[in-house]
Amino acid sequence: MALHHLMSMEDLCAEEMLTILDTARSFREILDRPIKKVPALRGVTVCNAFYEPSTRTRVSFELAEKRMSADAVNFSVSGSSVSKGETLRDTIQNIEAMKVDIVVIRHWASGVPQFLARHIKARVINAGDGQHEHPTQALLDLYTIREHRGRIAGLKVAIVGDITHSRVAKSNIIGLRRLGAEVRVVAPWTLLPAEIGRLGVQVTTDLKTGIEGADVIYLLRLQFERQRGGYLPSQREYAMTFGLDRERAAWGAPDALIMHPGPMNRGVEIQPDIADGPQSVILDQVANGVAVRMAVLYLISGGTPPEAVGMTPVLSAPHPAGR
Ligand code: CP
Repeated sequence: MALHHLMSMEDLCAEEMLTILDTARSFREILDRPIKKVPALRGVTVCNAFYEPSTRTRVSFELAEKRMSADAVNFSVSGSSVSKGETLRDTIQNIEAMKVDIVVIRHWASGVPQFLARHIKARVINAGDGQHEHPTQALLDLYTIREHRGRIAGLKVAIVGDITHSRVAKSNIIGLRRLGAEVRVVAPWTLLPAEIGRLGVQVTTDLKTGIEGADVIYLLRLQFERQRGGYLPSQREYAMTFGLDRERAAWGAPDALIMHPGPMNRGVEIQPDIADGPQSVILDQVANGVAVRMAVLYLISGGTPPEAVGMTPVLSAPHPAGR
């Protein structure tokens, strides 16, 4: 599998997604060992450039890099020369001049990872760009569903909430559909994007219709920082109409998985007893995120999918091409 950059789930066919998930399964085992470190990325330098706040994605990329013996450096806007007016392109080209092989980029603007990939030689991984995509989140979600259900194909997955502003929803819709799931989206009309009819999903504004019999109920955060007013009468109104509580969760399949990408607005899109209850796999998503990001970094660095050569992935990957 030749993975040069990871920009979008759109760029991955079903077979490539499954290769990443299978590679992640090999790495997941390493994370349960007493010594959680392998030399797979020794000699590879990764810069985590975060232009937007992050807890899960940033920490898990950094852990994934350290677990694989890469040299990881972190760049964030606060405390950098961005505050002196330096452009994104200049900033990243300066970082690249220090011989960085891979840039992991999170940015508030859609399309920034693609822009960077056109202007630098380092490989680029999209860690979430604006309202566009969050491919490693979708891959860790697919991994988590497959781990719990053994498959993706044929499952009914309901994605509930702020679809318009959600890069997570867009990446998940692409991944789930390519792997054969039936995807329903549930939201007030104001939080459904105009292009929803072209995404190949079932659409409803009625929570019960949307989650009835669902194998997975995937809740999205209301993205107050991206909403510019007028979408909802109030948070309370949203919680009363679309928030998942115990009674509503029972509309799904009896053992439905409850998922959320985080951070959660407890008491708005999800009640605490559901977030912390037996059907919730929210912390599994976070744990699996490290293994999935290890797999993406490994494959982008030229590593061979472990199953292809019948090994556990502890050998060094070739260095990224040309570096
Ligand atoms: N799911 C997710 O992207 O979380 P962070 O914003 O904390 O990285």
